[in-house]
Parts: sequence; C-alpha cells; structure tokens
Amino acid sequence: MDERVQWDSSLSFIFAMIGAAVGLGNIWRFSYVLYSNGGGAFFIPYLIAIAIMGVPFLILEYGVGFSFKDSFSNILKKINPKFELIAWILVILVFVVVIYYMVILSWDLVYLFTSFTFGWGNDPATYFVNTVGGSSNLNSAGFLLIPTTIGVVLLWIVLWYISHKSVDKGIGKFSKILIPLLFIIMGFIVIYALTLPGAEIGIKMLLTPNWSMLFDVNIWLAAFAQIIFSLSMGQAIALTYASYLPKNSRLTDNVLIVVASNSAFEIFTAFGVFSILGFMSLNSGMSMGKLITEGTGLIFIVFPMIFNIMGFLGRIIAPLLFLAILFAGITSALGFFEPMLNSFSTKLGMSRKKATTILAVIGCIFSLMLTTGISSYLVGIIDSFVNQFGILLLIGIQCIIFAWFYGLDHILPVLNENGFLKVGTLWKTIIKYVLPIFLIIIWAIGIIKLFRNAQSFELIIDSIIIVSVVVVSFVLTRIKPTN
Ligand code: ALA
Repeated sequence: MDERVQWDSSLSFIFAMIGAAVGLGNIWRFSYVLYSNGGGAFFIPYLIAIAIMGVPFLILEYGVGFSFKDSFSNILKKINPKFELIAWILVILVFVVVIYYMVILSWDLVYLFTSFTFGWGNDPATYFVNTVGGSSNLNSAGFLLIPTTIGVVLLWIVLWYISHKSVDKGIGKFSKILIPLLFIIMGFIVIYALTLPGAEIGIKMLLTPNWSMLFDVNIWLAAFAQIIFSLSMGQAIALTYASYLPKNSRLTDNVLIVVASNSAFEIFTAFGVFSILGFMSLNSGMSMGKLITEGTGLIFIVFPMIFNIMGFLGRIIAPLLFLAILFAGITSALGFFEPMLNSFSTKLGMSRKKATTILAVIGCIFSLMLTTGISSYLVGIIDSFVNQFGILLLIGIQCIIFAWFYGLDHILPVLNENGFLKVGTLWKTIIKYVLPIFLIIIWAIGIIKLFRNAQSFELIIDSIIIVSVVVVSFVLTRIKPTN
C-alpha cells in the first residue's frame, strides 16, 4: 500500500530538493575541487556540466516522477519488467550512500559537541584519528570509536523520526525549517570570514585561473563528478520527490531554482572557506597549498587548528560551522533514504512507518559497522566505489531507458504544461545522445583510475558491495508485489 501523500506546497518540495542537494559536498568538497582544478578556470567545465547534465537530467527526473506518480522500481518495471532489477540496484546503492553518509555526519556531531570545549586540543589530527574517524591501519579494525558509534545511533533515530511521518509533515516541514537556518548560519560565517585579516590571500588563491588546465581531462571529470554529487542527481531522489507533487506544478522552473540555489550556496561557501584558510596562512606562515586538503582533513583537522588561534569568535564560529554541516547533511540524508523507503514500502505493501522502522534498523546496523578504528578508511573506499562505479554508470543507463525505451515525447507535455522554461529538441538530443555517450566515457576513464590504484583490501570491499547489492536487488525483484 503506497500512501501517495503529496507535498502541501511547492515550497515544501523546493526546500526538500534544496535540502537533498546542499550537503557536505557543497561545504567541503566544492572548495577543494575548485582550487585543485584550475581555480577560476574551473567555472567553465562547471557551468558546462550544469548546462548539459545537471539541468537536463533533473528535468528528466522531475518529468518522469511527476508523470508516473509511482516508486522508482515500479516506474522502471512499467517501462519493461526486465528493468526492475536495474531500479533496485540503483535504489540500494543510494541506500548504501545513506549508510556511510550518516557516519560522516556522526563525526560532525561529535565535533559539534567537542567544539563547545575545544576538546580536540592542540593536535586535532590525533584527536580525529583516536576518537572520531580512525585511520587506515587495519589493526585498529577491532575496536569501536565510541563517540562516533553513539552519534550514529542518535542520527538514525532523528532520520527515522523525520522519515516515518508523511512527506509533507516530515521531510517537507523539517526542510522548511532547517534550510533557511542553514543559509542564515552560513551567511554569518562567510561574512565574518571575509573580514578576517588574510582573507584576500585565500580568495586570490581560489580564483586565480589556470587556463592551461582546461586541456586536462581530469578537470572535466571533476566538474561532472561535483555536479552529480552536489545536486544529488540521478539517484532517484528528485524523481521520487517529484512523484509527490500536486497537479499543475511548475517542473522546469523548480529545477532552475534548485540548481541556482545549490551553486550559489557552494560558491558563496567557498569564499568563506578560503578566507579562513587565507587567515591561517597569514597567521601561521604556512603556505595555502599545505593547508588545503579535501573533505575530512579540511573540516576536522585544519579548521579546528584555525579555530584554536581565532580567539573569542572562534568559540562561536566553531559550533556554528558544525551545526551548519549537520543541518545540510541531515536534509541530504533524508533524500538518500527516500527512494529506498518509497520503493520498498510500495513493493511490499507496507505502511511508511513500518518500512521506515525496518530500513532504519538495517541502515543503523550497517552504519555501526563503519564506526570501528578504520571508519574513515572504509567510508572513503565505499564512497569512491559507489559514486564512481555505480551511480555514474546508472545515470547513463537511466538516460538510455527513459529516452530509448520509454520515449521522451511522453514526458514533454507535462514538462511544458506550466513552467516558464520550455524544453524541446535540444533537451531531447542531450538526454538521448550527448549524455549517455559522455557519461559512459567518463565512467570508463574513472574506473581505470579507480582500479589502477586500488589496494587488495579495497578490492575486497568493492566486491562485497557489488555482490551484496546485486543479490538483494535480485531478491527484491523476485518478490511478488502486495497491493
Ligand atoms: N548533495 C549532497 C551533498 O552535496 C549529497 O552532500
């Protein structure tokens, strides 16, 4: 039984979509990707990735979800029963994402509490390894990082609480509160960061274009990967959210609002991050190049070092930053959880509440397995594999299914019914030809890179994931639907 409750307003939908998009990727990933891929020059592949992939594919997802008003697995099954297996593979891979994403959020939660007392001390790197994220030393796999373990359980309870309610009362309502709060907090942090001595050093470094890098294929790969991750596109999230939209919704316009908000947020945040790094560089004499690291290193090691020397305001900025990350992350986690929840409850004829409970318990157990002394190592392996191998390939496959097996002309009328932005031949050409070819090429290049450098432990983990995902997908496909 699928209780197809709708969003109570298009505002709930837009905030939920922005919530799914704006997440960890916008706060720590974008700055690093921008800096290490040609600085200002990166905006060219970035904007092209938005134009030929982000916007057209989200329009496709909105159109399909809105037309069918069904779960992702049912939609693919209706197009051709053989495609149901593919649907489950994607939905379960996205469920794997929520499993490790909750672990990263738990590191953030631990830091939020630690930030009140600056409990990371003078050596945040050691604090991170010993207490929160662990290391790649396999001998540490036998013990649990207790604060992270507790954080994971708390976060799954929160996710369960929001998701078990109908979408309008749960995700919709919470996104309408958390997203504006996130924007206010981040606005405050960035404006303060821009006033710090040394901010201009960071911003100059961030924006100085290295045009020669435009000829390097890696910067193009990085731009496309960033857009996929940051927009949470191609993961059945937008499609599922759009399936709850009421009649007469303005689909294409909503895509533009979500994409613009997501990019504005990440570009704005990058200015803040680099101003803070510029401040550190000026104060410590360390070069910017030494300070800039990706993701966990930046937020959990470099930033605490900077808060340590920031004085009184550091005491305020630190908790605010970790709180902002928590808000951004929770709303993204809700998005990752929804496709599985919707497909699972629909297939098994289960109430939303019961399905949420079962999936949250399963998800929590798996997240707990990632809170041992090799937590960050495992999370890194799973993240690269699921995104670079699975999701990227499945976006290309979805283009092929919707364009070649279903037919984009079926979707055009609903897309063009209400919105200001109309789509036609150009959009169809992009989805039918340009994107699948392009995505399969970048997938192949990425895979060669991923496996060329992989250690045998990493290959074992990758194999476990792929075998488990396919087996569970197969089982779910074979189950007879209950109506
Ligand atoms: N789009 C989400 C993020 O950027 C997943 O973290």
